[in-house]
Amino acid sequence: MSIGRIGEYFDERAGGWDAQSEAAGGKHLAIARLAGVHEGARVLDIGCGTGIMERAYLELGASRILALDLSQGMIEHARAKFADVARAQLEFACADVLQLDTNERFDIVVAYNAYPHILDREALVERVSDLLVPEGRFLVAHGMGRKALDAHHAHVPANVSRELLPAREEATCWESRFDIDEVADTPFVYFFGGAKRRTSD
Ligand SMILES: C[S@@+](CC[C@H](N)C(=O)[O-])C[C@H]1O[C@@H](n2cnc3c(N)ncnc32)[C@H](O)[C@@H]1O
Repeated sequence: MSIGRIGEYFDERAGGWDAQSEAAGGKHLAIARLAGVHEGARVLDIGCGTGIMERAYLELGASRILALDLSQGMIEHARAKFADVARAQLEFACADVLQLDTNERFDIVVAYNAYPHILDREALVERVSDLLVPEGRFLVAHGMGRKALDAHHAHVPANVSRELLPAREEATCWESRFDIDEVADTPFVYFFGGAKRRTSD
């Protein structure tokens, strides 16, 4: 597995990312609500890209958002878009979530359109659990259904992305640390999420 290769792959695409992406809007607000973002929430956004979810988190009143991406190019585009928001409230960092060096803890962790690129699922589950407060929640979500997503990734190198399993199967891997209470896997939507289990503190 090559974290460097994944960062490079997305760096090469950062300049044209917004032009080929859906504009931030109602879908992203609905996903942020589904994730449980609320007034005062501390949110960790994994694989934020150019910041497609950040407007929604701000609109729902998040008090702190740490938005991470492996690609410096993605982070630079995101920072430029949100230059008017105080860094204490919204911080973009070029970092691998699996190696993130922080004592900060979050109420909510979201990986939107990023999960198939984090190839070590078991490590991610452990890391997300560590980064959440005791009753914190995570959500893995995509802006399209699984088949459409796998077709979209068909030409992406295997060391950059992997095929998604049905949401219920992917969620099984998270059950070691989380109580899964949200799963959808339809032609148009794919997500799963849940709450950190108290006994795993
Ligand atoms: C398909 S893009 C999605 C970007 C954005 N969420 C969106 O929907 O437009 C996936 C992003 O995840 C980032 N990524 C992949 N692995 C990561 C990791 N281990 N830590 C942080 N970001 C990662 C990539 O650099 C890439 O920008």
